[in-house]
Amino acid sequence: MIEAVKSRSRKRLITLTVNGEEHEIAIRPNAMLVDVVRDQIGLTGTKSGCSSGSCGACTLLIDGRPMLACSTLAVECDGKAIRTVEDLADGERLSPIQEAFLDQGAVQCGFCTPGMLMSVTALIASNPKPSHQEIKKALEGNLCRCTGYNAIFNAVLQATGQDGIKPIMF
Ligand code: FES
Ligand code: FES
Repeated sequence: MIEAVKSRSRKRLITLTVNGEEHEIAIRPNAMLVDVVRDQIGLTGTKSGCSSGSCGACTLLIDGRPMLACSTLAVECDGKAIRTVEDLADGERLSPIQEAFLDQGAVQCGFCTPGMLMSVTALIASNPKPSHQEIKKALEGNLCRCTGYNAIFNAVLQATGQDGIKPIMF
């Protein structure tokens, strides 16, 4: 019994490539990716909201796919490429998606914004002109309690060159 507890708490060495930079880190076997990224790697742009897979604030990209970092064991990401919101801007220059969020007033308290941006980044990478339904589908796991969603929707339209199209209510 004691041995089993010890083995569960024994740290493991994993390698994560985060925003193009390789990190070899010792983690607890039950450590969640969001905590490793924020507390061990020091990238606090990724937010921890509900910690239960419900709000989407912790969304980041794992090998290009949007995933919930609060519900992903870091040990499962050994050898994988992680991309966080810190990687979107090029120095002082914001990405077109970030610019569009600012232009459209899609950032209020900002807590949902990193997760939203990462979901939109993944959407546009695979689908540069998403339809209304495709935008809704891509953002269905990202909750925002401030904006009412239309500003976010407008930002995605702007970032994809579809500014003239009227948004539909979520
Ligand atoms: S913090 Fe991960 S889904 Fe809410
Ligand atoms: S801007 Fe506040 S939760 Fe979305």
